[in-house]
Amino acid sequence: MAVTIHQLRKWKEKGRPISVLTAWDYAFASLLDQAGIDVLLVGDSLAMVALGYPTTLSLSLEEMLYHAQAVTRGVNHALVVCDLPFLSYQESPQQALRSAGTLLQQAGIAAVKVEGGYPDMVNTVHYLVERGIPVMGHVGLTPQSVHQFSGYRRQGTSDPEADRILQEAIALETAGAFAIVLEHIPHPLASKISQTLKIPTIGIGAGAGCDGQVLVTADLLGLSEWQPPFAKVYSNLQDSITGAVQQFCDDVRNHQFPQ
Ligand code: KIV
Repeated sequence: MAVTIHQLRKWKEKGRPISVLTAWDYAFASLLDQAGIDVLLVGDSLAMVALGYPTTLSLSLEEMLYHAQAVTRGVNHALVVCDLPFLSYQESPQQALRSAGTLLQQAGIAAVKVEGGYPDMVNTVHYLVERGIPVMGHVGLTPQSVHQFSGYRRQGTSDPEADRILQEAIALETAGAFAIVLEHIPHPLASKISQTLKIPTIGIGAGAGCDGQVLVTADLLGLSEWQPPFAKVYSNLQDSITGAVQQFCDDVRNHQFPQ
């Protein structure tokens, strides 16, 4: 049975942790889906891990649409959520509605994710939700603000900052967000937010107190050039792929393939 937003809320109530991974193409999406992942996020981290851009800021809505379409073709079970790319939603709620609508209509995703919990973004979330578009929030380290943060630094380390992040999470829930990503914040703060909110929190570098966990799939599989300190590398595909390709080259050069 396909995962629904309602199901995520039920899982939080039952204390059943939610698994989330990123996907950017058909091949990985179908593998992750068949392996039983709950939620697939077409995260704008694909700008870096799949397209070689230096940050997520360069990704366009058109590129995101292309990748989201490939992902949904591979998914039967997981809930598919898609990031709204930088500058495709910050201008106004109407701009966000057009961008989200394009992704829902043309890629068949179920929900969008937006970064930030400042008042204008909370209004945008409310605007989208009222018009039937489910929204996942994202607070703490929001990578589209990397320059504002002077790097991918942990957020919420001072009391006023921690309180601001808590208030943002509460405001996003009140605006109708169905879940919130908490990225790279102190673990006690993430636990407090998770206990305060009724909607599920999905942590990345935010500790075990969240209702679910997300990783960038390229980090989990050892495919990215650089991993953040909180990522766990479950498999080193970079070595496996390099080894297989070197073996193929040797076999061709030594007349071992085809035999
Ligand atoms: O783009 C992404 O991969 C994300 C996750 C890190 C949450 O937003």
